[in-house]
Amino acid sequence: MDRRGHDTASCLRGIKRRQRFSPGAEMREAATEILFTKGAIERRVAELAAQISRDYKGKEPLVVGILNGAFIFMADLIRALAVPCRVDFVRLASYGTGSVSSGEIRIGKDLETPIAGHDVLIVEDIVDTGLTLSRLVEILQKRQPASLKVCAFLDKRERRRVPFTADYVGFSIPDRFVVGYGLDYNEKFRFLPDVCVLGTSSEGEGI
Ligand code: PRP
Repeated sequence: MDRRGHDTASCLRGIKRRQRFSPGAEMREAATEILFTKGAIERRVAELAAQISRDYKGKEPLVVGILNGAFIFMADLIRALAVPCRVDFVRLASYGTGSVSSGEIRIGKDLETPIAGHDVLIVEDIVDTGLTLSRLVEILQKRQPASLKVCAFLDKRERRRVPFTADYVGFSIPDRFVVGYGLDYNEKFRFLPDVCVLGTSSEGEGI
């Protein structure tokens, strides 16, 4: 644990105590397990950065983060790169009727940087169904970048609804609900330094 930073277990205990943590009826007895520690994440990010630095040697990629989830991973990744880069961000929105998602994804906040002729590396926290990234790649390819690659911190391959393969992946994970290191549950837990599985002991699916 970082003495000045957050310790995942005590943070979660504190949140439950102070906020009477109730993630919803289906998750009322939240239980957690650390899937990837801060140290394991640091080591994997360093490996990814080394690989990306080799691949982009002599180049200055535009690193595009997808808000909100990617911001912590992207901050660590770009500081570990051995090549210079520029940064920009997009936010995506899925559209539908009422609470039913149509699966249609559009850009909410667009890039502020033209990408034609530039090397673009999209950075994402997690690939789940693949809808977000396959759509974003389709949109950005039309702007004719010199190259377009994707680096995803986590990959839940068994959840794919559309085919999508990231060029760089931090960790492949099973179909469990994970939080921390930028990933949220109802906007909570993004700040946790470890990646944790959020489960329920009441459903017998807990950890
Ligand atoms: C999450 C995640 C990815 C997307 C992946 O974003 O950050 O962007 O879902 O899902 P997909 O592969 O099924 O499309 P979310 O909409 O939860 O927003 P957030 O980044 O603000 O957490």
